[in-house]
Amino acid sequence: MCRPTYYAIAYEINPWMRLRRPASPRRALRQWEALYRFLTARLKIQVRLLAPARGLPDLTFTANAGLITDRTLIRSNFRYPQRQREEPTIERAFRRWGFRIAHLPAAFRFEGEGDALWLGDTLVLGFRFRSDAPAHESLARLLKREVLPVELKDDRFYHLDTCFCPLPGFAALWYPGAFDRYGRRVIEQVATETIPVSRTDALKFCCNAIVAGREIVLHRGISSSLRRRLERRGLAVHELDLSEFLKAGGSAKCLALRLPSRYTAPRA
Ligand code: ARG
Repeated sequence: MCRPTYYAIAYEINPWMRLRRPASPRRALRQWEALYRFLTARLKIQVRLLAPARGLPDLTFTANAGLITDRTLIRSNFRYPQRQREEPTIERAFRRWGFRIAHLPAAFRFEGEGDALWLGDTLVLGFRFRSDAPAHESLARLLKREVLPVELKDDRFYHLDTCFCPLPGFAALWYPGAFDRYGRRVIEQVATETIPVSRTDALKFCCNAIVAGREIVLHRGISSSLRRRLERRGLAVHELDLSEFLKAGGSAKCLALRLPSRYTAPRA
């Protein structure tokens, strides 16, 4: 995770971001600290912190740094110049932590875990707004796994992790309205069970959830029917206020990148 010290709505690169609708730095920091405390103190998750950097307001959305596989970070090739500036900072930090860095061909955009999520042994790659479909072949070669590209069609759900969330047992929470017919079919086929959410819940970024074991952490305000549905599947639902991050088009999941456990413990 990365503390939102320099977080701000400094540009508009998705429909959520409006320069006229700034985020409150104090409230953002408070919300982020509450999420961090919840993950570390309550759920006992070890979190490694990436140092915030002035001039990189979206660095706090670490899910977009890349995709981790073993000791390798497949570094993102950001779509927009505003976020391309994060690339050297990300790369330096991960090298320092002992990761190898893999790059995709420079011609292909790819925004890391924001657009690439595992459903069992299969990587689902969301493309169009941020990542490019042809990246799937390079990813498959690097990962030696099947990669299924699915097209996103609603710019409010511009990253896969805004409309699709793998759950334990190869199930998935998702907003079908964000996918075209082919993508919907692919997801219905690879997931053992799919839990569709309403547009209202989706717009609260309920799919942008952190799932750890049987715990699911998301922005507050989901419908009681969705909460019941998740609880019936044996999940403990935790709602936190992340409103300041929704203004940038992100929520719980974007604020964290999953690391293999041996890399998360902070070094002395
Ligand atoms: N403002 C950021 C952007 O538009 C938000 C990124 C949210 N990250 C995510 N994984 N959905 O790039």
